Amino acid sequence: MNVWEENLRLAKAAWLAHSSRVLRKLSMQSSLKDQWVLITGASSGFGAAAAVAFAGQGANVLLGARRMDRLATVAEACRQAGNGQALACSLDVASTPSVEAFVRWVREQTPKLFLLVNNAGGAKGMETVAEGRDEDWEFMLQTNVLGILRMTRACLPLLQGTPGSQIISIGSIASRTAYEGGAAYCAAKAGELQITHALRLELCGTGIRVATLDPGFAETEFSLVRFKGDAVRAQKVYDGMTPLSAQDIAETLVWMATRPAHVCIDELVIKPTDQAAIHKVHRRGPGQRPAGKPF
Ligand SMILES: NC(=O)c1ccc[n+]([C@@H]2O[C@H](COP(=O)([O-])OP(=O)(O)OC[C@H]3O[C@@H](n4cnc5c(N)ncnc54)[C@H](OP(=O)(O)O)[C@@H]3O)[C@@H](O)[C@H]2O)c1
Repeated sequence: MNVWEENLRLAKAAWLAHSSRVLRKLSMQSSLKDQWVLITGASSGFGAAAAVAFAGQGANVLLGARRMDRLATVAEACRQAGNGQALACSLDVASTPSVEAFVRWVREQTPKLFLLVNNAGGAKGMETVAEGRDEDWEFMLQTNVLGILRMTRACLPLLQGTPGSQIISIGSIASRTAYEGGAAYCAAKAGELQITHALRLELCGTGIRVATLDPGFAETEFSLVRFKGDAVRAQKVYDGMTPLSAQDIAETLVWMATRPAHVCIDELVIKPTDQAAIHKVHRRGPGQRPAGKPF
């Protein structure tokens, strides 16, 4: 080996050592082990599945929702999935005093958050604007829009200064395409998308990453809530097609949260393969759909 080849070999070795040091540093920054992850709407669906998935990665999870009995079950599942802490507290994102009391409780558990998942929300009703009900509109705008603003304002001081910290809000493909009967829900999720855009500008330079995860059809309690307990109508949404599961969303959230600190997944749209667009769903006919995996 001549001097030139030896220098090249040494340069390659130094570069490899440097790269692996950088990668190790980045993976340490993005590792979820012992990090504190706060999830709203953790009593069912995406939030519950995400809680267990983050706990399985060694994170400490802080869970909020209105149904405390359901939260207790999810917290227990988290403790079985990982070695971190899994703590739950009552939260109504539609109420500023409730959000403030919840975040006071969060501060008693930890001075620093790595991740806030703004997931609490949903839809109520599918009436046209002409037939719409105030209480349904108020539910959708209070939870999906004002809930995110309240939770983010209250949690920002806890996210500041944590390397790689993130806010991931759950939007919807409804934020990008309107449909008949969806005026208030589409408006609410479009609100979520614009809050995400504004927040990313406001937080540029702080190191806090801001992202939106926008799913299409996913089988959770979402349709049951939308159709106010009408299970037959809720089931029809997924007839003959294979929807996403809560687990699919949980795995995607973990992937987003474990990117290196310099990588921000701004906007991620995730749809079932059978759903090309809100109005374009391939259905094989009832009875042929593989069983879903609601939490
Ligand atoms: N499933 C889908 O097809 C789909 C698609 C796109 C987007 N999304 C969005 O994904 C998010 C999660 O929905 P999901 O599908 O998992 O439905 P889900 O199973 O009905 O879960 C909704 C969660 O939000 C919580 N929540 C509702 N109102 C709340 C409030 N005022 N305060 C605190 N928590 C509240 C519920 O808990 P409590 O009732 O116990 O409070 C529940 O844990 C929602 O933002 C939804 O709009 C869903």
